[in-house]
Amino acid sequence: MIDRRDPPPIGRVVATEQKPATPHQFHFWTANETSIGIGAIVRVEGAGNREQGAGRVVYGVVTDGFAYSDLATPLHDVVGAEGDPAKAADSPTVRQEIRLWTAAVLRQKPEEPLQPVPLREVHVASDVDVAQALRMDAYLGGAQPTAIPVGLYTSGGLEAPVYLDADFLLGPEAAHLNISGVSGLATKTSAVEFLLGSIFQHFPIHKGRIAAVCFNVKGPDLCFLDQPGALEDEDRRRYERLAVRAQPFERVRYYAPFKADGVNLNTLRTHPELVGDVEPLVWGLREVLDYAEVLLNRDDIDAKADAFIDFLSDRVVDKEFDDGFGGTHRVVTFADLERLFRSIFDGLELAARGDTWRTHHIATIRKVRNRLSNISTRCKGLVTDDGPSNDLPWGRFEDRAVYVVDVANVDPLGQDLVFARAVSKLREHLERRDLGVDAVVVFVDELNKYAPGDGPETYVKKMLLDISERGRYLGLVLFGAEQFRSQVHRRVVGNAGTTVFGRMDSDELATPGYQVLSPATKIKLATLPIGELMVRHPHFTQPIFVRFPRPAVLRGRDGVERFPPAADLPFDDAVVRQLVKLDRRVRPNLVKDLIADRREEDVRRALAHTRQARSQDALAHFTKQLGGRVAAAPALPRESVPPLTPISDEPY
Ligand SMILES: Nc1ncnc2c1ncn2[C@@H]1O[C@H](COP(=O)(O)OP(=O)(O)OP(=O)(O)O)[C@@H](O)[C@H]1O
Ligand SMILES: [Mg+2]
Repeated sequence: MIDRRDPPPIGRVVATEQKPATPHQFHFWTANETSIGIGAIVRVEGAGNREQGAGRVVYGVVTDGFAYSDLATPLHDVVGAEGDPAKAADSPTVRQEIRLWTAAVLRQKPEEPLQPVPLREVHVASDVDVAQALRMDAYLGGAQPTAIPVGLYTSGGLEAPVYLDADFLLGPEAAHLNISGVSGLATKTSAVEFLLGSIFQHFPIHKGRIAAVCFNVKGPDLCFLDQPGALEDEDRRRYERLAVRAQPFERVRYYAPFKADGVNLNTLRTHPELVGDVEPLVWGLREVLDYAEVLLNRDDIDAKADAFIDFLSDRVVDKEFDDGFGGTHRVVTFADLERLFRSIFDGLELAARGDTWRTHHIATIRKVRNRLSNISTRCKGLVTDDGPSNDLPWGRFEDRAVYVVDVANVDPLGQDLVFARAVSKLREHLERRDLGVDAVVVFVDELNKYAPGDGPETYVKKMLLDISERGRYLGLVLFGAEQFRSQVHRRVVGNAGTTVFGRMDSDELATPGYQVLSPATKIKLATLPIGELMVRHPHFTQPIFVRFPRPAVLRGRDGVERFPPAADLPFDDAVVRQLVKLDRRVRPNLVKDLIADRREEDVRRALAHTRQARSQDALAHFTKQLGGRVAAAPALPRESVPPLTPISDEPY
């Protein structure tokens, strides 16, 4: 570490009547050859006799720079060179060139009384100075440090680690992080991956257990977080300097719905070597009914439909139920529910009993039926009739584990349902403090799409607003990324305690949200190299530029090259694969013989039950679930229960 008093000053504060030094800003000059640049942190040591401890120290960050000479107007230079630029260099006297910088004050010590910056020597900041300037000393040391490395401040020939305060990044003081910047150059997804790794390694013990739920919304982006990626020596050096181990995530659990066939997983992590640890995400009628809000979006706030869904959920599903026309039902699946609906419609028609059934109007019943059928058709593979559901391990979340939920290829309605259910469940368990961890980071990429400033009020948006506004008290923290911050809902970005910017688009920088930045800072942002970020954090008075190493995980793009996704397997092979996953001893041919001639839905149901049972002997369980060789005849002939097909909503 460099002793802050050793190096000679690199500049001196100047103040004129026109450009005075104030408590928040000052100007200083340097030699023409200087290591100072925009974003550099400097230290000004004030007047005062150090023996008496009277010295005022001011830390600032450079926000602008100017160069000029003693020329009164450009005309003098032109005339002096007789209008020939080549001759200008021959002029007998070299004009003095001035390098003047503007810096914004980061911190003054002592803080009171707050005074203008003294007109004294300027030094480049050392590690210690950076820690002081950014008020990191408060959380770097002490009995319970809460510092999370975010990157390296690199300027003025010096390099110093920059830390975020876990209390302000992950709650309870402030929470949430938002990162924006242009596609590909801003390294948004990479930065979040690196920071999550850093959080997992540095989240202080006294704050408890932490996990992350990452929604994979774009191709293979987050499908290989457990695989090591390629790093360069410079990356390794940065890891070392930041005291973060360069390693992929140790505990990653993948969840993906099935494709419409109900046996092949809807994800790009289907390479035979990796698909084994992708858990299916499968929900049934019960799980869907619990999130009626998703079915009835805001456009049709409808108390009647809501009440009918509640009625189904509380009184009908999983219970013995008399339809009032002489039929008894036990509704467990969508198909059972459809049977009940048909009995109701037929019963009402035959009995000519008017338009109401158990106080619910037939139009309401039709509407709810349509919405439910809509979801089961559009989200086939996620929402299923085939046996028990398979969900994230609510209540059994592991410390420092990442749960990746792959919804990249799911219909928007299905994504709504996944977000709604996952976030509500997280909330519920965090409120009851029985999730298994004390804090959860929810990472949602592409916020432009999921929480746009305008556009319809989707359930995803509502959930994201809810986390942003109330999550921090619960330990529910949102990390969001988007290309254009100005297009994301204001309350989502506004509630992010920590804001990070990668390379920005200049049109975006011209929008009102960036007025506080100096023109030079904007230019720096518009030309920011890959791997460099600008960070705003509650402890930092001004935005700070940092560099971070490549994440130590395999990039999605490289992942699909190294582990090319497998083609969809035929039904029987896919079933075999699922069973082998549950029990390695399972012999493929035996399974194929067993399921030949069986109805696919029966096979899927048996598979789902086997998965749920986690039995020692998966094949025996599966065989038992499958029942006798000849499938029992269904309660109703299949033709009599048409598949649920969405019908456009009848008007009231
Ligand atoms: N610290 C780093 N240093 C150098 N290169 C990096 C660093 N971090 C990421 N990269 C590279 O930058 C590229 C873009 O990164 P990333 O995919 O994270 O960008 P993005 O902002 O999420 O893009 P998009 O908007 O398209 O999702 C990747 O190829 C990645 O390897
Ligand atoms: Mg990205």
